[in-house]
Amino acid sequence: MQGGVLSHASRQVFATMRASRIFLGATVVVSVVFLTVTYLEGWFRVSSAVTRAPARTRFLFSAGLDRRTADRAQGTQAGTSAGSAGRRVQEDNAEKIQRDRKTALERVCNVSLPELVPPLSTRQLGHLIVDDEHKMLYCFVPKVACTNWKRVMIKLRHPDIDKPQDISPRDAHETYFLPTLKRYSPEAIQYRLDNYFKFMFVRDPLERLLSAYINKFTMPYNLKFHRLYGTKIISRFRENPSNDSVQRGDDVMFKEFVQYLLDPQAHGPQLNEHWDHYFNLCHPCRIHYDVIGKYETLDQDVNYVLQRAGVANIVQFPPKPKKAQTSTSQLLDEYLDEIGPKEVLRLHNMYILDYLMFNYSLPNFPGER
Ligand SMILES: *[C@@H]1O[C@H](CO)[C@@H](O)[C@H](O)[C@H]1NC(C)=O
Ligand SMILES: *[C@@H]1O[C@H](CO)[C@@H](O)[C@H](O)[C@H]1NC(C)=O
Ligand SMILES: *[C@@H]1O[C@H](CO)[C@@H](O)[C@H](O)[C@H]1NC(C)=O
Repeated sequence: MQGGVLSHASRQVFATMRASRIFLGATVVVSVVFLTVTYLEGWFRVSSAVTRAPARTRFLFSAGLDRRTADRAQGTQAGTSAGSAGRRVQEDNAEKIQRDRKTALERVCNVSLPELVPPLSTRQLGHLIVDDEHKMLYCFVPKVACTNWKRVMIKLRHPDIDKPQDISPRDAHETYFLPTLKRYSPEAIQYRLDNYFKFMFVRDPLERLLSAYINKFTMPYNLKFHRLYGTKIISRFRENPSNDSVQRGDDVMFKEFVQYLLDPQAHGPQLNEHWDHYFNLCHPCRIHYDVIGKYETLDQDVNYVLQRAGVANIVQFPPKPKKAQTSTSQLLDEYLDEIGPKEVLRLHNMYILDYLMFNYSLPNFPGER
C-alpha cells in the first residue's frame, strides 16, 4: 500500500470533521492501517495508544457529546417530516440520505484496508438472503431488526402466509426457510450481486452490543450462549466467581462482556455474529448495497426499501412494539457508566471502522454528561 494513497484517502475520510479533529482522525486511521498487519494485536494497541493520551481523550469526550446529540436530533426531525410532506419530497429526501450514506461509506472503503477488500467468505455469503422471484438480496445483521426482515423475506417466498408477524421468531431464524448466496455457484453469485436489489441495516454499534448483551446474557432462555460464552467470560474475568456462576454462565455483567470483547485472546479471531463488525458480516466495500438502512430511522428506511424493491404492495413490515423504540439508547448511558470512560473509548476504537463507514458519532462518555 503506498503512502500517497493512504494520506489522500485519510484526508477524505475526515474531510467533514472540523479542522481541529483532522489530526486526531488521521492518526487513528493511520494507526489502524498500520496495525492491521497484526490484526488481533492491532485493535488492542490502537485502543490503548489513544487511551493513554489524556489530552486527546478529553478532546474525544467533548466531540462525542455534541455529535451524538446531533444525530438524535436529525433522526427525530427526519421522522416527523415524513408525516407532513408529500411522498415525492419524502422519496427525494430518502435518495439524498442514501447518497450521503454511500459517500461516507465509500470514503472509508477507499482507504483500502486489508480487511475491507478480501473476497467474500462462505460466512458472508451465508448472511446474504436471496429472493430470486423479487430479485432481492438482504444482508442480515443480528440485533438490527433482523427477525422482522427475515419474516418479510419468508412472507415474500410464501404468499399464503397472512402476515409476517404471524411467523414465530424461531421459525424466522430457521435456515431452511430462507436460501442464502452460499448455495449458489460462483457465476450465479456474481450475477445476483450485479443485478439484484441489495440492502442491509445497521444501528449505533454500542447500542447493538448492549442489545446483544441483554438478549444473550440476561434472558434465562439463552442457555446456549450462557454455556458457550458466559462460563468462559465469568471464569476469565470475574474475581472469585461462585461455582454456580462458573458452571451456568448465566449472570455475566455488561462490564465483563466488554472485558471479553476487548481481549482478543479471550474471543479469538472470529467474533460471534451478534457482536461481529458490520463490515465483516456484510462486506459493504465489496458489495455495493442499493440501500443502507438504519435502525435509528427504521420506519422511513423500511418503507424506502420495500418501495425500491417493488414489493411495498405485497408485504408490510411488522409493526414495532411501542416501547422497544428508544429503550436501548436510553439504557446505554446507564450501562456505559458501569464500564468507565477508558473502556468506552477502547470499545469505540475496536468498532471504529463501523463507526466511520456508517457515520455514527462517538458514544456519550461517562462523567461527561
Ligand atoms: C454524518 O452525520 C452528521 C450528523 O451526525 C452529518 O452532519 C454529516 O453530514 C454526515 N456525514 C456524511 C458524510 O454523511
Ligand atoms: C473513491 O475512489 C474512487 C476511485 O478512485 C473515486 O472515483 C471516488 O470518488 C472515491 N469516493 C470518495 C467518496 O472519495
Ligand atoms: C466449589 O467447587 C470446589 C471444587 O469442586 C470446592 O472445593 C469448593 O468448596 C466449592 N465452593 C463452593 C462455595 O461451593
